[in-house]
Amino acid sequence: MDASSAEFPPYPPCRGTDKDGFAFPTLAKRLPVILTKAVDAVCRVYLAPGYSDAAHAKDGKKVVEELGRLRHELTRDRALEVIRDSEEDAEEWNRVIASRAKEAWFSAPWLFSECYAYRRVRETLVLNNWADFDPFAESKRIAFKDSKAAVAELSSRFSVIRSFSSESGERLAFHELLQICLWGNATDLSLLPHLSAEMAAELQSRASSMLSESEKNILSNDIDSAWDHVKGLNGGRCDVILDNAGFELFGDLLFADYLHSSGRVKNTVFHGKRIPWFVSDVTPADFDALFEQLLDPAFFGFKGDAQKAVETLVARWKGYLDSGAWKLTTHAFWTLPHPYPQINERAPELYATLKESGLVLFKGDLNYRKLLSDAHWPATTPFAEAIGKAWQGIPVLALRTNKSDPIVGLAEGVAEKLQSTEEDWRWSGKYGVVEFAK
Ligand code: F6P
Ligand code: MG
Repeated sequence: MDASSAEFPPYPPCRGTDKDGFAFPTLAKRLPVILTKAVDAVCRVYLAPGYSDAAHAKDGKKVVEELGRLRHELTRDRALEVIRDSEEDAEEWNRVIASRAKEAWFSAPWLFSECYAYRRVRETLVLNNWADFDPFAESKRIAFKDSKAAVAELSSRFSVIRSFSSESGERLAFHELLQICLWGNATDLSLLPHLSAEMAAELQSRASSMLSESEKNILSNDIDSAWDHVKGLNGGRCDVILDNAGFELFGDLLFADYLHSSGRVKNTVFHGKRIPWFVSDVTPADFDALFEQLLDPAFFGFKGDAQKAVETLVARWKGYLDSGAWKLTTHAFWTLPHPYPQINERAPELYATLKESGLVLFKGDLNYRKLLSDAHWPATTPFAEAIGKAWQGIPVLALRTNKSDPIVGLAEGVAEKLQSTEEDWRWSGKYGVVEFAK
């Protein structure tokens, strides 16, 4: 069975009409709140005291009106409208929308509807001359500022971890940094409408402490097979399909730094998002912002050694970027609604480059949903089977904290046991998976 055959995946996708899952509350409650916050962000610009660009303000009012209409379409479960801008992916979006003519926001696959919402936000900005504005930028900045304690601890601990040199020391460093990278995904801003700030801080602290304790919450754990693969890389290329900006990106860069400085990986390509996406995802502007924020002593308010530690990291990371060892890129495929088993048909040139990678690392929940076609797989399905034939022969590592229904790779009985005690285990962010296939 492969992605191009009609039967793949052999299970239905999550839909907003599934009242028992996370799709319904996301579309009915969380997404409308996110759209309202985007409206607030636009208003804050043109209503700021002293703001004097009248033409831009007029366009901003249109953005606000149109985002309000978008919210209305979503909450009333209206038909799917075409994309009216002429950005590079508009035609492909409209092809998919035409194929869903009989569906509306809730009856369409959840993966499609949620991606579509963010693409419609983009359309609104583009059509009203606000294309340069990221309505989520300020919330990303504030959330990173709130990660001060974890950033300080990780920056100083990283130099110690990086110096582990024996075979067992290296294995330990890999375990530790991979988990930092994993738990960095525990919180994301699209979840904040139902996650308290205290809970977010608690989840974030996992990335910086008590890692062996947190390992118990990894429900499917292929760290050892990932390490066996990585240690044989001897200087290949790693592709990181990024997820969230700020703290998660900081942890991703630490992990990539380790892979590079240990000599396992020679080149790393970071794949960011072309447009503002799922509130917190990394755009090229967020990638640059992280460096600036770390270099600005006023941002976290670090003093002395703490500021020096982050500056040392940034200097090395800039060096990797300047030398071409690290590269940031974007591709329209990552912000289309396609499940990843279809990558060979939907983005053949991107697929051809990923086929040459020594390791393709997928970060976060949305990437995981896309790898699994956002389908209701039985939880014991092997990961390699669920991601489909296109990925066979490519080393794929998924690091994801559970924030939505789909999950595979669990041992017999695990899902049932959790279900009987913690109804929200699939999406609470408390658990995670580390899944590897090649
Ligand atoms: O479930 C919450 C949600 O908005 C999902 O729709 C989405 O998969 C996820 O958050 C985004 O999380 P992440 O940033 O880990 O991809
Ligand atoms: Mg995200």
